[in-house]
Amino acid sequence: MERSRLAASPLLSAHLLFAAVCVIAIFSLTFIATGFGSAGRPRAASLIDSAIPDTAACSLEADLDRFREGNLLPLIKTNTSSSQQFHCVRASSPPVAVRGCGDCSGPPSVAFLFLVKNNVPLAALWEEWLALSMDRRRFTVYLHIQEGTGASEPPSSLRGAISVERVKTSYGNFVLAENALLKAALRDPCNQMMVLVTVSHIPVSHPDVAYDVLFQHRVPETGGQPTSRFCYAKAKPFERSTHKGMGNMDLDRTPADTASPSPSCQDAESTIGYDLKHHQWRAWNRYHASIVVAQGLTYPYDGLPWNRGHGPYADPSEWFGHHVLRRALGNGAVWKQVNGGLQTNHTDRCDDKILTEFCDTKTCWSADACGYGMGRSCSPSGPLCFSSLNLTKLTETISSRHPLFFRKVPPDATLFDEGGREVGRVTDLLIPLIRNYSRPVLVTSI
Ligand SMILES: *[C@@H]1O[C@H](CO)[C@@H](O)[C@H](O)[C@H]1NC(C)=O
Ligand SMILES: *[C@@H]1O[C@H](CO)[C@@H](O)[C@H](O)[C@H]1NC(C)=O
Ligand SMILES: *[C@@H]1O[C@H](CO)[C@@H](O)[C@H](O)[C@H]1NC(C)=O
Ligand SMILES: *[C@@H]1O[C@H](CO)[C@@H](O)[C@H](O)[C@H]1NC(C)=O
Repeated sequence: MERSRLAASPLLSAHLLFAAVCVIAIFSLTFIATGFGSAGRPRAASLIDSAIPDTAACSLEADLDRFREGNLLPLIKTNTSSSQQFHCVRASSPPVAVRGCGDCSGPPSVAFLFLVKNNVPLAALWEEWLALSMDRRRFTVYLHIQEGTGASEPPSSLRGAISVERVKTSYGNFVLAENALLKAALRDPCNQMMVLVTVSHIPVSHPDVAYDVLFQHRVPETGGQPTSRFCYAKAKPFERSTHKGMGNMDLDRTPADTASPSPSCQDAESTIGYDLKHHQWRAWNRYHASIVVAQGLTYPYDGLPWNRGHGPYADPSEWFGHHVLRRALGNGAVWKQVNGGLQTNHTDRCDDKILTEFCDTKTCWSADACGYGMGRSCSPSGPLCFSSLNLTKLTETISSRHPLFFRKVPPDATLFDEGGREVGRVTDLLIPLIRNYSRPVLVTSI
C-alpha cells in the first residue's frame, strides 16, 4: 500500500503545523456546522437519545447469526449444562466481517469504546483532541455507562458519542460491556478499528498519527483489514516479572471445550502469547470483533473459578476477550492476524520493539513511575495513578509515534518542568502540546 508521509524537523513541522491547524480549523467549523459529516451516522443530541435500536430494517443480530453460521463451528461441549457455546472459525471461511447497517460514505473510522462508570471527567479534552483530526469522520465514540443514567441528566459526556444499551457488569468483569460496545460499533460499516479505553486514558499522539498507526499493518489473513493490536506479556509462562503485575497470566490456557470436529482450532491452550495484566485496552479489527461478538461469551463459564492457576491475580476483563479470539482462531492463525502479523511463532517476537509498537496504551506499575512523573498505586494490584506528569517526557512521547494513549490520569493531574516546577494542568496543556510537538501524517492513503 502506497503511503506518503512527511517526517519534518521539529522547526519545519511547527510551521507546517500552523498551516495544518488553519486547515483543520476550517474543517472543524464545517463539521460543527454539519454535525459529524457522514450521512446516516447518528448525531446524538444527548446520550440518552442516542442508543441505536435494532430495527427490522437493519438487524445486526441477523447479521451476526449469518456470520456465526457461515464462519464459525460450534465446539462440542464438555459440560453439557453450560449455557455458553464456544465456537471456532471454520477452516474454509473467508476473513470477512459483519457488514453493519447502511453504506459507509465516509473514510474508514476508528471507534473509541469507553468503559464509563458514571461520567467522563476528561470529556472536554477528548472532544478537543478529536477536533484536531484532519477529518472528524475518522473517529466515532461509544460509551457504556455502568451507572448514573436513566431518568436524570446524562453524565458529562462527549459530544456525538453514542451511548450503548447498559448490560450487567461487576467489579473487574466488563466482558459483557466490552461485547456491547463492540457490537454497537459494528453497526456502523465505517468502523474498521475498535479501541477500548477508559475514562482515565489520555491521548498522547495527534489523532492523525493515531489513525495512521492503527491502520498501518494489513495482512492477507485478515482479508487486507488492519491487524488487531494486542499488548502481550514479555515474561514467559510462570516466570515472575520484577515489576508487580507485569507478569504473564496463565488463565487463558484452560480451554473451554476440548472436543471439536475441527482440530485446527484446538490449540488455544498452548503456552505462547500471554496477555499483559491490565491490558484489555486492545484495538480490534472489524473481523476479530465480529468473531467475539457473534459468540457473546462471558466469564466465568462452566463453573470455572474467577481466579485460576498461577501467576498474578487477573480480572476476566483483562484476558477473556483475547481468550475467546484465540479459542476461535487457534494460535496458528492468531499470530498471523495480530500486531502486524507475527507469523507462526510469537515466543521470540515479544521483544521490546514489538511491545513498543503494539502496546498502544502505556500503563505503569513500577515505583519509579516509568519516568513519566509522579504517581502512586491506586489499588492493591493496580497500576499507578499519576498525580503529575514530567513535561519533558510527555513532550517526547507526543513527538514519537508510540504509545498512542496513556493511563491513569485523573482530571486534576499537573505537569512539572525540569526545575520541578508545576506548569499547569494536563487537561489545559495537553492539546497545545500535541499541537506544538506532534508530527502529524499529512497524507494517509487508506
Ligand atoms: C457445568 O456448568 C454449570 C453451569 O455453568 C456449572 O454450574 C457446573 O459447575 C459446571 N460443571 C463443571 C464440572 O464444571
Ligand atoms: C519458537 O521460537 C523459539 C525461539 O526462536 C524456539 O525456541 C521455539 O522452538 C519455536 N517454537 C516453535 C513451535 O516453532
Ligand atoms: C523528565 O523526563 C526527562 C526525559 O525522560 C528526564 O531526562 C528528566 O530527568 C525528567 N525530569 C524530572 C524533573 O524528573
Ligand atoms: C506552543 O507553541 C506556542 C508558539 O511557539 C507557544 O506560545 C506556546 O507556549 C506553546 N505551548 C505549549 C504548551 O508548549
